[in-house]
Amino acid sequence: MKDSVMPVQDFETLAVHSGPGPDPVTGASSPAIHQSSSFVFRNTKHAADVFALKEAGYIYSRVTNPTVAGLEQKIAELEGGTGATCTSSGLATNLLAFSALMQSGDEFIATQKLYGGTAGQFRDTFQRSFGWKCLFTDPTKPDEFKRKVTDKTRLIFIESLSNPEGVIPDLEAFARIAEDAGVPLIVDNTVATPYLCRPFEYGANIVVHSTTKYFSGHGQSMGGAVVDGGNFDWMKHAAKFPTLATPNLSYRGLVFAKEFAAAPLAMFNHAVGLRDLGMNQQPMNAYLTMIGMETLPLRMRQHCENAQKVAEFLSRHKAVKSVSYPGLPNSPYHSMAQKYMRNGWASGLFTFDLAGGYDAGVKLVENIKLFTHLANIGDTRSLIIHPASTTHAQLTDEQKTAAGCGPGVIRVSIGIESADDLIEDLNQALALT
Ligand SMILES: Cc1ncc(COP(=O)(O)O)c(C=O)c1O
Repeated sequence: MKDSVMPVQDFETLAVHSGPGPDPVTGASSPAIHQSSSFVFRNTKHAADVFALKEAGYIYSRVTNPTVAGLEQKIAELEGGTGATCTSSGLATNLLAFSALMQSGDEFIATQKLYGGTAGQFRDTFQRSFGWKCLFTDPTKPDEFKRKVTDKTRLIFIESLSNPEGVIPDLEAFARIAEDAGVPLIVDNTVATPYLCRPFEYGANIVVHSTTKYFSGHGQSMGGAVVDGGNFDWMKHAAKFPTLATPNLSYRGLVFAKEFAAAPLAMFNHAVGLRDLGMNQQPMNAYLTMIGMETLPLRMRQHCENAQKVAEFLSRHKAVKSVSYPGLPNSPYHSMAQKYMRNGWASGLFTFDLAGGYDAGVKLVENIKLFTHLANIGDTRSLIIHPASTTHAQLTDEQKTAAGCGPGVIRVSIGIESADDLIEDLNQALALT
């Protein structure tokens, strides 16, 4: 934040005032869009020092960009981390973070209850292209994670509030298991956002985000972020994490965990990860996301209150078999929501299962009027999709059910419109199923 003496207590204030503040050159109140691929050096010594990481500065937008740096600062402040690195999409964050922590042949343990795209990335491409083996494990049984730790384990990965089923793992239990194993706990906090939950406060070491969702809120900018908690002792576990804890030859032998002790992972992700893998975020996207983030608390409150009302309505409706939303007292994750989410709120995303099965799912989507039919989540407008005929269509019925997306399951991302209007719309469409 620009003025470090500002007495910030509340997240609402932080959401507006975090980040770079007014432009230092022009005084413009909103962040400037530095739509430039490269940056002019003052002289040859300046150029050499910035290249050698002896002086902070901008070289080339694949590695760092002032507008993207503003978003990184804002996200780190909202999460309570020490630094962040933004990427072109949410999925790219996993590649960036994992490439800093894993060598070919290493293993990691991840929750089975994951966003489908992440599950595919872990199961297929990470194994095939990089030799990183994922052990998928039930997030309601932390002890099973513990049993799977070996000397090849390099990280544990969970979602704080899973997409789409709303599974909320016991964050403190996972942080203890990761600490005992001497590996970082990575939490995907996309659906909860730091407004509902700040995983570093429960012992997580790295937070990842798809900023495409609630951070932006408008559905107009893809992006992701890896946030460094600055709380993992890489030097203590140097043999496991040579990238961070042993001399880096491309930077005159510096050791990232020593030279940049506050946020070594964020620094490495820029200086090596983005440099070599190139999934940098575009300045225009960073700008749009920063603007969106200023209203994050207002939007999240409305998403949560609306989702609660809509979920309660659906849970009483005769055409609906079940509703999977942690805000409902009968949810197996209700107590975890009370423990880890602000006010016990459970974000705006959930699924419900229609008594009429597959055909009813298709009919509901065809007849709904206010909900937009698309594959994103976290927009201001309400969104709907029938996973069995779209995102999960390639799976067998058993696989669909195991993924929480059986034939009659509908996924909704409840927006910030009037809850009464949303309920009326669902009511008329359900009558036609
Ligand atoms: C929880 C979660 N993590 C990661 C992603 C991937 O983000 P992106 O689509 O920005 O790559 C998504 C996308 O839906 C998500 O829901």
